[in-house]
Amino acid sequence: MKYWMMAVGAAGVFVACATPEMPLPPEGAALYDENCALCHGPGGRGDGPLAAGLDPAPADLTRIAARNGGVFPRADALSTIDGYTRMDRADIPQEMPEFGLLLRGETVPVDVGDGKLTPVPRPLAALMVYLESIQES
Ligand code: HEC
Repeated sequence: MKYWMMAVGAAGVFVACATPEMPLPPEGAALYDENCALCHGPGGRGDGPLAAGLDPAPADLTRIAARNGGVFPRADALSTIDGYTRMDRADIPQEMPEFGLLLRGETVPVDVGDGKLTPVPRPLAALMVYLESIQES
């Protein structure tokens, strides 16, 4: 019995040290409620309390895949949240804030759509899987 418990304990340590797992949608949902819902709305439909005053209006985040031929563009979503996209589009008003600095942390390997694993800060990856989980066709 004692040895059995030690074996289970060792397995637990092994899992904790193994490659970090992808976050699940609820982890991103919590970050979303805190940082994004004011503009994008509690359900992601672009109808948050601040939305009315913004031009361009906040995107409906449940239709990102639908707007992209049915495929959720992981790399695009990540760079929009992180703030990279806006840098090369200085011509349009920048209503969407950059969250890059806020969303740093331990990285997890993410397939951003090119079949390769790219290290992505965990909070960003969590938001990405959450957004992916709320897509509607
Ligand atoms: C101050 C308001 C505001 C906040 C807060 C905000 N956004 Fe946005 N977001 C916008 C606006 C406005 C747009 C659309 C116009 C643009 O691209 O600048 C947008 C666009 C996006 C897009 C692109 C959608 C598409 O179809 O290309 C994504 C993804 C996104 N936001 C995710 C997020 C996430 C995730 C958060 C929280 C971490 C967040 N936003 C917080 C205002 C906001």
